[in-house]
Amino acid sequence: MSFLLALTAASVAVYIIIYYTLCRGSRCTSQARLQGKTAIVTGSNTGIGKATALDLAKRGARVILACRSRERAEAAVRDIRRESGNNQVLFMPLDLSSLQSVRDFVETFLKTEPRLDFLINNAGVMGGGRTKEGFGMEFGVNHLGHFLLTVLLLERLKQSAPSRVVTVSSVLYDKGHIDFKLLEATKDLAEGERNAKKDFQVYAHSKLCNVLFTRELANRLEGTNVSCFCLHPGLVQTEMGRYLGLFRRLLLLLCAKLFFLDPEGGAQTTLHCALQEGLEPLSGRYFSGCAVAQVSAKGRDDAVAKKLWEVSERLTGV
Ligand SMILES: NC(=O)c1ccc[n+]([C@@H]2O[C@H](COP(=O)([O-])OP(=O)(O)OC[C@H]3O[C@@H](n4cnc5c(N)ncnc54)[C@H](OP(=O)(O)O)[C@@H]3O)[C@@H](O)[C@H]2O)c1
Ligand SMILES: *[C@@H]1O[C@H](CO)[C@@H](O)[C@H](O)[C@H]1NC(C)=O
Repeated sequence: MSFLLALTAASVAVYIIIYYTLCRGSRCTSQARLQGKTAIVTGSNTGIGKATALDLAKRGARVILACRSRERAEAAVRDIRRESGNNQVLFMPLDLSSLQSVRDFVETFLKTEPRLDFLINNAGVMGGGRTKEGFGMEFGVNHLGHFLLTVLLLERLKQSAPSRVVTVSSVLYDKGHIDFKLLEATKDLAEGERNAKKDFQVYAHSKLCNVLFTRELANRLEGTNVSCFCLHPGLVQTEMGRYLGLFRRLLLLLCAKLFFLDPEGGAQTTLHCALQEGLEPLSGRYFSGCAVAQVSAKGRDDAVAKKLWEVSERLTGV
């Protein structure tokens, strides 16, 4: 009995130590107030995106929730307005799995909003399926839709400079690889039947695209006062688990409850990249835990980054 008690006490102690050293994450310390500034956050009806939008709204920004579901987005608009006391929070429909929807979103945005200070490319999927134009879903949504969105908004970002583009990647970029021949042939980053393992792989490939996109974007933005960053948000308890089978989902839920950041904690590195003063010389870099981090060689390959940009231009027709 006393042994069991000791074991329980020891386990709790170990958990507390692990939690407070590894899982609590860092905080964005910027005190920036954002009256008169405008932000777009994609995929902001839930998870990290919603927490990011809420923080920006609390700081006084005008925040556009760029989401695919009117119902879920309008519920988020209500929550964020209530919690922030800021009424300058609105929904504009954007489905990143349709390039036409991206174009429609940009048309509406440019017609109605005079400025853009922060573009937060946050939405992400890991679920298989195909986009409207037939691309693999992860490549199409996580990379290609955000590519087109960013390119079409660049003029407005330049006019509003200093401004920033922040793209939410993942540490899994390091498991990624871009096979351009395969992309050409299949419009996807993996071939054959999809399964859980393959979904995970193509997700990693798409997150490498986020890193390389940010790198090439920084090169192209030199001298404009528009800077761009990508990041790993940490392990965050969100709806990402919805793409897993029941058993994995339960396992993930248990780990997540014990060890993962909550969405507010998960938004901190995004906020750091958007708001921290003086980051401009680090444009194009990758952040983790509210600090710049080194990427492995594949995340620094300028030739692949340039090729990805050119291929993406061709695939989106910009
Ligand atoms: N959670 C983590 O541990 C973790 C770790 C590393 C990186 N990330 C990255 O963090 C970002 C945010 O993810 P999360 O964890 O907050 O996941 P989440 O709770 O699943 O939220 C994802 C958001 O993306 C939106 N979205 C999906 N497909 C879309 C589309 N076609 N058009 C527009 N919006 C779309 C979703 O909208 P619906 O609600 O309508 O589906 C939702 O708002 C993603 O880029 C993810 O890859 C997360
Ligand atoms: C960028 O910002 C600096 C400092 O504010 C300014 O002097 C410069 O003219 C700006 N450059 C452009 C291209 O807007």
